[in-house]
Amino acid sequence: MNRLAILTSGGDSPGTNAAIEAATRQASACGAELLGVRGGFAGLADGQVHLLTLAEVDGIAARGGTILGTSRDRTIADEEGRQRLLRTLERERIAGLVLLGGDGSIRYGATALAEMGVASIAIPCTIDNDVPGTDRTIGFDSACNRAMGLVDGIRDTAQALAGRMFLLETLGGHTGFIALAVAEAAQADLVLLPEYPVDLDRAAERLRRRVQAQGYALAVASEGAGDVHSMATYLAEAAGHRIRLTSLGHAQRGGSPSYFDRWLARRCAELAVSGLLSGQSACMTASEGYNVQLVSLTDVCSGQKQPDRSVYERINGLGIGGIS
Ligand code: F6P
Repeated sequence: MNRLAILTSGGDSPGTNAAIEAATRQASACGAELLGVRGGFAGLADGQVHLLTLAEVDGIAARGGTILGTSRDRTIADEEGRQRLLRTLERERIAGLVLLGGDGSIRYGATALAEMGVASIAIPCTIDNDVPGTDRTIGFDSACNRAMGLVDGIRDTAQALAGRMFLLETLGGHTGFIALAVAEAAQADLVLLPEYPVDLDRAAERLRRRVQAQGYALAVASEGAGDVHSMATYLAEAAGHRIRLTSLGHAQRGGSPSYFDRWLARRCAELAVSGLLSGQSACMTASEGYNVQLVSLTDVCSGQKQPDRSVYERINGLGIGGIS
Protein backbone atom coordinates (compact mmCIF):
# COMPACT_ATOMS: atom_id res chain seq x y z
CA MET A 1 0.00 0.00 0.00
CA ASN A 2 1.79 3.16 -1.11
CA ARG A 3 -0.98 5.28 -2.58
CA LEU A 4 -3.43 6.93 -0.20
CA ALA A 5 -6.03 9.67 -0.49
CA ILE A 6 -7.29 12.32 1.92
CA LEU A 7 -10.83 13.65 1.97
CA THR A 8 -12.73 16.32 3.94
CA SER A 9 -16.40 15.69 4.75
CA GLY A 10 -18.98 17.92 6.49
CA GLY A 11 -18.25 21.34 7.97
CA ASP A 12 -14.67 22.58 7.70
CA SER A 13 -12.75 23.52 10.83
CA PRO A 14 -9.56 25.46 11.60
CA GLY A 15 -6.74 22.90 11.56
CA THR A 16 -8.10 20.85 8.65
CA ASN A 17 -5.45 22.32 6.35
CA ALA A 18 -2.79 21.61 8.97
CA ALA A 19 -3.85 17.95 8.87
CA ILE A 20 -3.66 17.92 5.07
CA GLU A 21 -0.17 19.44 5.13
CA ALA A 22 1.08 17.03 7.80
CA ALA A 23 -0.43 13.99 6.02
CA THR A 24 1.25 14.99 2.76
CA ARG A 25 4.61 15.43 4.49
CA GLN A 26 4.23 12.12 6.32
CA ALA A 27 3.30 10.21 3.16
CA SER A 28 6.32 11.69 1.37
CA ALA A 29 8.62 10.82 4.29
CA CYS A 30 7.33 7.22 4.13
CA GLY A 31 7.84 6.97 0.36
CA ALA A 32 4.12 6.97 -0.36
CA GLU A 33 1.85 9.15 -2.50
CA LEU A 34 -1.11 11.10 -1.14
CA LEU A 35 -3.97 12.16 -3.40
CA GLY A 36 -6.26 15.02 -2.39
CA VAL A 37 -9.98 14.55 -3.02
CA ARG A 38 -11.88 17.70 -3.96
CA GLY A 39 -15.39 18.17 -2.55
CA GLY A 40 -15.78 15.27 -0.11
CA PHE A 41 -17.44 11.93 -0.94
CA ALA A 42 -19.29 13.45 -3.92
CA GLY A 43 -15.95 14.56 -5.36
CA LEU A 44 -14.45 11.12 -4.83
CA ALA A 45 -17.35 9.49 -6.68
CA ASP A 46 -16.81 11.99 -9.52
CA GLY A 47 -13.09 11.18 -9.71
CA GLN A 48 -12.02 14.62 -8.42
CA VAL A 49 -8.55 13.61 -7.20
CA HIS A 50 -5.04 14.90 -7.72
CA LEU A 51 -1.59 14.18 -6.37
CA LEU A 52 -0.72 16.47 -3.46
CA THR A 53 2.80 17.85 -3.68
CA LEU A 54 4.91 19.31 -0.92
CA ALA A 55 4.94 22.59 -2.85
CA GLU A 56 1.13 22.73 -2.92
CA VAL A 57 0.71 22.14 0.82
CA ASP A 58 3.70 24.08 2.11
CA GLY A 59 2.40 26.55 4.72
CA ILE A 60 -1.33 25.81 4.34
CA ALA A 61 -1.38 24.82 8.05
CA ALA A 62 -1.81 28.51 8.86
CA ARG A 63 -5.05 28.84 6.87
CA GLY A 64 -8.62 28.17 7.96
CA GLY A 65 -11.10 26.23 5.80
CA THR A 66 -9.83 23.37 3.65
CA ILE A 67 -7.91 23.66 0.39
CA LEU A 68 -9.71 20.52 -0.79
CA GLY A 69 -13.22 21.86 -0.33
CA THR A 70 -15.79 19.78 1.52
CA SER A 71 -19.43 18.78 1.15
CA ARG A 72 -22.42 17.58 3.06
CA ASP A 73 -23.70 14.92 0.69
CA ARG A 74 -25.31 11.50 0.74
CA THR A 75 -23.13 9.84 -1.90
CA ILE A 76 -21.91 7.15 0.45
CA ALA A 77 -25.42 6.43 1.72
CA ASP A 78 -26.72 4.90 -1.52
CA GLU A 79 -25.57 1.93 -3.55
CA GLU A 80 -25.06 3.82 -6.81
CA GLY A 81 -22.85 6.40 -5.04
CA ARG A 82 -20.84 3.66 -3.35
CA GLN A 83 -20.20 1.92 -6.67
CA ARG A 84 -18.95 5.15 -8.30
CA LEU A 85 -16.75 5.78 -5.31
CA LEU A 86 -15.26 2.28 -5.49
CA ARG A 87 -14.57 2.76 -9.21
CA THR A 88 -12.49 5.90 -8.48
CA LEU A 89 -10.56 4.11 -5.76
CA GLU A 90 -9.79 1.23 -8.11
CA ARG A 91 -8.95 3.40 -11.13
CA GLU A 92 -6.62 5.63 -9.09
CA ARG A 93 -5.13 2.63 -7.23
CA ILE A 94 -5.97 4.22 -3.87
CA ALA A 95 -5.27 1.69 -1.14
CA GLY A 96 -6.56 3.67 1.81
CA LEU A 97 -8.38 6.85 2.81
CA VAL A 98 -7.71 9.44 5.49
CA LEU A 99 -11.14 10.85 6.36
CA LEU A 100 -11.35 14.30 7.96
CA GLY A 101 -14.77 15.08 9.40
CA GLY A 102 -17.08 15.50 12.37
CA ASP A 103 -19.45 13.21 14.21
CA GLY A 104 -21.80 12.50 11.27
CA SER A 105 -18.99 11.94 8.76
CA ILE A 106 -17.23 9.53 11.08
CA ARG A 107 -20.31 7.74 12.42
CA TYR A 108 -21.83 7.16 8.97
CA GLY A 109 -19.05 7.81 6.42
CA ALA A 110 -16.25 5.88 8.08
CA THR A 111 -18.63 3.05 9.01
CA ALA A 112 -19.82 2.83 5.39
CA LEU A 113 -16.22 2.66 4.16
CA ALA A 114 -15.56 -0.23 6.54
CA GLU A 115 -18.70 -2.01 5.26
CA MET A 116 -17.45 -1.53 1.68
CA GLY A 117 -14.08 -3.03 2.56
CA VAL A 118 -12.23 0.27 1.99
CA ALA A 119 -9.29 0.80 4.34
CA SER A 120 -9.68 4.11 6.18
CA ILE A 121 -8.61 6.00 9.26
CA ALA A 122 -10.72 8.93 10.45
CA ILE A 123 -9.44 12.13 12.04
CA PRO A 124 -12.06 14.07 14.06
CA CYS A 125 -12.15 17.58 12.56
CA THR A 126 -15.02 19.77 13.74
CA ILE A 127 -15.35 22.88 15.86
CA ASP A 128 -18.23 21.16 17.71
CA ASN A 129 -16.04 18.72 19.72
CA ASP A 130 -18.93 16.26 19.76
CA VAL A 131 -17.09 13.13 18.53
CA PRO A 132 -17.10 10.37 21.18
CA GLY A 133 -13.84 8.65 22.10
CA THR A 134 -11.64 11.74 21.92
CA ASP A 135 -11.08 14.64 24.31
CA ARG A 136 -10.62 17.16 21.51
CA THR A 137 -11.57 17.49 17.87
CA ILE A 138 -9.44 19.61 15.54
CA GLY A 139 -10.91 23.12 15.33
CA PHE A 140 -12.60 23.27 18.74
CA ASP A 141 -9.75 25.14 20.41
CA SER A 142 -9.58 27.75 17.64
CA ALA A 143 -13.36 28.28 17.67
CA CYS A 144 -13.29 28.79 21.45
CA ASN A 145 -10.38 31.23 21.15
CA ARG A 146 -12.28 33.21 18.53
CA ALA A 147 -15.17 33.57 20.99
CA MET A 148 -12.91 34.57 23.87
CA GLY A 149 -11.67 37.66 22.01
CA LEU A 150 -15.26 38.81 21.53
CA VAL A 151 -16.16 38.13 25.16
CA ASP A 152 -13.31 40.45 26.17
CA GLY A 153 -14.77 43.14 23.93
CA ILE A 154 -18.26 42.67 25.34
CA ARG A 155 -16.96 42.90 28.92
CA ASP A 156 -15.22 46.23 28.22
CA THR A 157 -18.45 47.89 27.15
CA ALA A 158 -20.46 46.01 29.79
CA GLN A 159 -18.30 47.47 32.55
CA ALA A 160 -18.35 50.95 31.01
CA LEU A 161 -22.12 51.37 30.79
CA ALA A 162 -23.96 49.67 33.64
CA GLY A 163 -27.41 48.10 33.65
CA ARG A 164 -27.33 45.80 30.64
CA MET A 165 -27.31 42.05 30.09
CA PHE A 166 -25.37 40.38 27.27
CA LEU A 167 -26.12 37.16 25.46
CA LEU A 168 -23.43 35.59 23.27
CA GLU A 169 -24.60 32.91 20.85
CA THR A 170 -21.99 30.36 19.73
CA LEU A 171 -22.05 27.76 16.97
CA GLY A 172 -22.16 24.10 17.94
CA GLY A 173 -25.05 22.64 15.95
CA HIS A 174 -27.28 20.58 18.22
CA THR A 175 -24.55 20.28 20.86
CA GLY A 176 -23.31 22.63 23.57
CA PHE A 177 -19.60 21.86 23.93
CA ILE A 178 -18.39 25.21 22.53
CA ALA A 179 -20.86 27.28 24.57
CA LEU A 180 -19.97 25.44 27.79
CA ALA A 181 -16.22 25.81 27.26
CA VAL A 182 -16.52 29.50 26.38
CA ALA A 183 -18.87 30.21 29.29
CA GLU A 184 -16.54 28.53 31.75
CA ALA A 185 -13.38 30.27 30.55
CA ALA A 186 -15.19 33.63 30.26
CA GLN A 187 -16.60 33.24 33.79
CA ALA A 188 -20.07 33.89 32.40
CA ASP A 189 -23.08 34.13 34.71
CA LEU A 190 -25.26 31.71 32.76
CA VAL A 191 -24.98 29.13 30.00
CA LEU A 192 -27.81 27.73 27.87
CA LEU A 193 -27.23 24.35 26.21
CA PRO A 194 -29.45 22.08 24.10
CA GLU A 195 -28.58 19.06 26.25
CA TYR A 196 -29.92 20.45 29.54
CA PRO A 197 -33.28 22.25 29.52
CA VAL A 198 -33.37 25.46 31.54
CA ASP A 199 -36.07 27.32 33.45
CA LEU A 200 -35.94 30.78 31.83
CA ASP A 201 -37.65 32.52 34.78
CA ARG A 202 -34.97 31.28 37.15
CA ALA A 203 -32.31 32.15 34.58
CA ALA A 204 -33.68 35.71 34.33
CA GLU A 205 -33.68 36.06 38.09
CA ARG A 206 -30.04 34.92 38.21
CA LEU A 207 -29.08 37.48 35.56
CA ARG A 208 -31.05 40.23 37.34
CA ARG A 209 -29.12 39.56 40.53
CA ARG A 210 -25.79 39.62 38.65
CA VAL A 211 -26.65 43.04 37.15
CA GLN A 212 -27.44 44.27 40.66
CA ALA A 213 -24.15 42.92 42.03
CA GLN A 214 -21.66 43.71 39.25
CA GLY A 215 -23.44 46.18 36.94
CA TYR A 216 -23.94 43.73 34.06
CA ALA A 217 -24.60 40.06 33.36
CA LEU A 218 -23.13 37.80 30.72
CA ALA A 219 -24.87 34.71 29.35
CA VAL A 220 -23.64 32.32 26.67
CA ALA A 221 -26.02 30.19 24.57
CA SER A 222 -25.33 27.43 22.09
CA GLU A 223 -27.20 27.92 18.81
CA GLY A 224 -28.99 24.62 19.46
CA ALA A 225 -30.43 25.78 22.80
CA GLY A 226 -33.42 27.40 21.11
CA ASP A 227 -34.40 30.57 19.26
CA VAL A 228 -31.94 33.02 20.74
CA HIS A 229 -33.99 36.10 19.80
CA SER A 230 -37.06 34.81 21.64
CA MET A 231 -34.94 33.80 24.62
CA ALA A 232 -33.30 37.24 24.72
CA THR A 233 -36.69 38.99 24.62
CA TYR A 234 -38.04 36.77 27.38
CA LEU A 235 -34.97 37.21 29.61
CA ALA A 236 -35.01 41.01 29.14
CA GLU A 237 -38.68 41.26 30.11
CA ALA A 238 -38.40 38.87 33.05
CA ALA A 239 -35.20 40.44 34.43
CA GLY A 240 -36.24 44.04 33.72
CA HIS A 241 -32.98 44.97 31.95
CA ARG A 242 -32.01 45.57 28.33
CA ILE A 243 -30.27 42.63 26.72
CA ARG A 244 -27.70 42.86 23.90
CA LEU A 245 -27.23 39.88 21.61
CA THR A 246 -24.04 38.90 19.76
CA SER A 247 -24.24 35.93 17.38
CA LEU A 248 -20.82 34.67 16.39
CA GLY A 249 -22.05 32.66 13.40
CA HIS A 250 -19.62 31.31 10.86
CA ALA A 251 -16.89 33.83 11.72
CA GLN A 252 -16.24 31.42 14.57
CA ARG A 253 -15.45 28.57 12.17
CA GLY A 254 -12.90 30.35 9.98
CA GLY A 255 -9.53 31.96 10.41
CA SER A 256 -6.07 30.77 11.31
CA PRO A 257 -5.94 27.75 13.66
CA SER A 258 -4.53 27.96 17.18
CA TYR A 259 -1.23 26.40 18.27
CA PHE A 260 -3.10 23.48 19.84
CA ASP A 261 -5.17 22.68 16.75
CA ARG A 262 -2.07 22.73 14.53
CA TRP A 263 -0.26 20.46 16.98
CA LEU A 264 -3.19 18.06 17.21
CA ALA A 265 -3.65 18.06 13.42
CA ARG A 266 -0.03 17.12 12.87
CA ARG A 267 -0.06 14.30 15.44
CA CYS A 268 -3.32 12.85 14.12
CA ALA A 269 -2.32 13.09 10.45
CA GLU A 270 1.05 11.42 11.03
CA LEU A 271 -0.61 8.64 12.98
CA ALA A 272 -3.33 8.11 10.36
CA VAL A 273 -0.91 7.93 7.41
CA SER A 274 1.52 5.64 9.23
CA GLY A 275 -1.38 3.51 10.45
CA LEU A 276 -2.79 2.99 6.96
CA LEU A 277 0.65 2.25 5.53
CA SER A 278 1.18 -0.40 8.19
CA GLY A 279 -2.18 -2.04 7.43
CA GLN A 280 -4.43 -0.57 10.12
CA SER A 281 -8.00 0.38 9.27
CA ALA A 282 -11.50 1.05 10.66
CA CYS A 283 -10.14 3.27 13.38
CA MET A 284 -9.98 6.91 14.44
CA THR A 285 -7.28 9.11 15.94
CA ALA A 286 -8.20 10.06 19.50
CA SER A 287 -6.62 12.40 22.01
CA GLU A 288 -6.51 12.20 25.77
CA GLY A 289 -4.68 15.26 26.99
CA TYR A 290 -1.50 15.37 24.92
CA ASN A 291 -1.58 11.65 24.18
CA VAL A 292 -2.84 10.73 20.69
CA GLN A 293 -3.61 7.16 19.66
CA LEU A 294 -5.75 5.06 17.33
CA VAL A 295 -9.04 3.73 18.68
CA SER A 296 -11.50 1.30 17.10
CA LEU A 297 -14.31 2.80 15.04
CA THR A 298 -16.81 0.40 16.60
CA ASP A 299 -16.03 1.73 20.07
CA VAL A 300 -16.40 5.34 18.87
CA CYS A 301 -19.67 4.76 17.04
CA SER A 302 -21.32 2.99 19.96
CA GLY A 303 -20.74 6.01 22.20
CA GLN A 304 -22.36 9.42 22.73
CA LYS A 305 -20.63 12.48 24.13
CA GLN A 306 -22.31 14.89 26.55
CA PRO A 307 -21.08 18.25 27.85
CA ASP A 308 -19.86 17.98 31.45
CA ARG A 309 -22.97 18.40 33.58
CA SER A 310 -21.03 19.38 36.69
CA VAL A 311 -19.45 22.34 34.84
CA TYR A 312 -22.88 23.36 33.53
CA GLU A 313 -24.33 23.24 37.05
CA ARG A 314 -21.43 25.19 38.51
CA ILE A 315 -21.69 28.01 35.95
CA ASN A 316 -25.44 28.28 36.44
CA GLY A 317 -25.22 28.11 40.22
CA LEU A 318 -27.45 25.07 40.17
CA GLY A 319 -28.18 23.49 43.46
CA ILE A 320 -31.25 21.59 44.54
CA GLY A 321 -34.25 23.29 42.93
CA GLY A 322 -32.54 24.66 39.81
CA ILE A 323 -30.73 27.87 38.94
CA SER A 324 -30.11 30.02 41.99
O1 F6P B 1 -19.62 21.69 11.34
C1 F6P B 1 -20.36 21.96 12.48
C2 F6P B 1 -21.00 23.32 12.33
O2 F6P B 1 -20.03 24.32 12.26
C3 F6P B 1 -22.00 23.65 13.44
O3 F6P B 1 -21.39 24.24 14.56
C4 F6P B 1 -22.95 24.56 12.73
O4 F6P B 1 -24.24 24.53 13.29
C5 F6P B 1 -22.99 24.00 11.35
O5 F6P B 1 -21.75 23.37 11.14
C6 F6P B 1 -23.23 24.99 10.27
O6 F6P B 1 -23.30 24.32 9.06
P1 F6P B 1 -23.30 25.03 7.64
O7 F6P B 1 -21.93 25.60 7.43
O8 F6P B 1 -23.62 23.93 6.69
O9 F6P B 1 -24.29 26.12 7.71
